[in-house]
Amino acid sequence: MRAPVLYLFSGSLLFVARAWTTFDVLHTDNQDDMPGLVSALESGGITANATVRFAAGTLYNAWSAVKFPALTSVEIVFEGNVSFPDNITAVQQVVGASNFPGAW
Ligand SMILES: *[C@@H]1O[C@H](CO)[C@@H](O)[C@H](O)[C@H]1NC(C)=O
Ligand SMILES: *[C@@H]1O[C@H](CO)[C@@H](O)[C@H](O)[C@H]1NC(C)=O
Ligand SMILES: *[C@@H]1O[C@H](CO)[C@@H](O)[C@H](O)[C@H]1NC(C)=O
Repeated sequence: MRAPVLYLFSGSLLFVARAWTTFDVLHTDNQDDMPGLVSALESGGITANATVRFAAGTLYNAWSAVKFPALTSVEIVFEGNVSFPDNITAVQQVVGASNFPGAW
């Protein structure tokens, strides 16, 4: 009786593993990585059941605001570092705008 139960259990674990996507955010030196992130999420269908990872050992460039698509069961994991613009005034102008829909 034991063996069939074990098969069922491992079968459902396999299903869960397949249904979950882990996406490593891409980085390009001296470029803003945020536009590529947003289009990868949208075009890659990474809007549900996924981990979006800022990989360890990478210094990402968050030089613009991000408007994420609608996300369901998506975790954002920061293992790497993120560099923000030096010009705080410019950031405040975008974030403080009454029509700002995103995140920075
Ligand atoms: C996400 O996972 C849930 C629960 O496993 C499932 O019901 C749903 O269909 C999945 N959504 C997508 C887009 O894969
Ligand atoms: C990330 O930040 C940590 C702590 O400041 C630093 O030790 C590490 O070298 C940084 N890594 C990168 C890729 O910038
Ligand atoms: C910072 O941003 C503001 C608003 O966009 C701009 O007027 C200013 O010239 C910028 N300062 C620097 C040092 O780039």
